[in-house]
Amino acid sequence: KKLMDIQPSQLLKRKVDADDGPSTKKSRYSGDEAEEHALFRGDANAEARALAFRRGSATLKAHPKEIVCEEDLKNLPYIGLTNSAKAGHCKMVAMEILSEGFSDEVEDVLNGSFYKSMKLFTGIFGIGPQTARKWYHDLGMRTLEDVKGKNISLTYEQSLGMEHYDDLNTPIKLEEAECIIKMVEKACNEVCDELTMTLVGGFRRGKSQGHDLDLLISHPEDGKEKGKLVLIIEKLKEHFIYTGRKMDVSNNLNKGNFASSTMDNFEKCFSIFKFNKSWLNSNLEGKAEWKAVRLDLIVVPSHQFAYALLGWTGTKHFEREIRRYARTEMKIVLTSHGMHSLDTKQNFPAETEEEIFQKLQLEYRAPSERCC
Ligand code: CTP
Ligand code: MN
Ligand code: MN
Ligand code: MN
Repeated sequence: KKLMDIQPSQLLKRKVDADDGPSTKKSRYSGDEAEEHALFRGDANAEARALAFRRGSATLKAHPKEIVCEEDLKNLPYIGLTNSAKAGHCKMVAMEILSEGFSDEVEDVLNGSFYKSMKLFTGIFGIGPQTARKWYHDLGMRTLEDVKGKNISLTYEQSLGMEHYDDLNTPIKLEEAECIIKMVEKACNEVCDELTMTLVGGFRRGKSQGHDLDLLISHPEDGKEKGKLVLIIEKLKEHFIYTGRKMDVSNNLNKGNFASSTMDNFEKCFSIFKFNKSWLNSNLEGKAEWKAVRLDLIVVPSHQFAYALLGWTGTKHFEREIRRYARTEMKIVLTSHGMHSLDTKQNFPAETEEEIFQKLQLEYRAPSERCC
């Protein structure tokens, strides 16, 4: 993860699966951590600064050619083309990396006590930047040992977060996800054979691992999906460590605190699933070795399905940008529930994601191309 170990040309190279975990991490522009750091700080301009880093980072990730010199940065939006202090900052960092192979500024951030502790604390399920900041600044906490030792009161969610800290901070592999998908699918079928289950989130974008597994559940007939979530959970109950509140608590849980841009009112649960490792490897049978895994189940009515699919496929930045575009360029309010005209309030129903792109006069983008 050290930027120092990386050749500059490698660092800024385009990677479609740029947020795909450790193996490709070295090709990530350090804008990701810079963004995170801004959100951790949470001061007056934090969100705007974070967004500027995210945009710079997204621009580099989406760039079709390798960037090797300053000239290559010249016409890039949010870096060389855009004339603002923030874009200038992005460019400065990028140029530092081009010439030195790393950025002093980013190195200082990553090696700094604040960033390290915030990273640790926000890695706890149920802890957002606000609480983590309080722990760091007001209570002088630095490590997970401090969290255990300081006798601070944790919510039930947070204590589970502590208990399963290592598991929940170990990425879920595609093979593991597939296993869980089969089980949820089976449970859905047992509850009602017309229920549908659709993979969303990072795995739908083609990632080979993720921090959780996101699944949409629906029924072809509007309204028939209601009340099914508790039944599905009941079927799987021996496999759950925690089934969350069946409502949206993402505002508190969402580390980026960008939840407001993607909040919805679907019935859902942010759960912790008990994954038996023997499901993958029959040699382990009998040994019952468990791993805690985050599983999100979202129930959506049929007539909103296309919008929910688009809204839950991500990335967060893609969702934010397409919604911003819809509002400012098309005067259309886009959410995971639907789309309506800002002026006339007229609703636009859609059966597919393609239709939504079309209505917004955008070229269709496959999930794997929504990786910014
Ligand atoms: N989302 C949402 N409302 C929430 C949480 C998430 O609409 N309360 C959407 C976000 O737009 C996000 C997508 O669902 O892009 C998936 O969220 P998340 O699981 O947090 O991120 P992933 O892209 O799946 O990344 P990872 O693989 O790390 O889970
Ligand atoms: Mn990322
Ligand atoms: Mn996810
Ligand atoms: Mn999720």
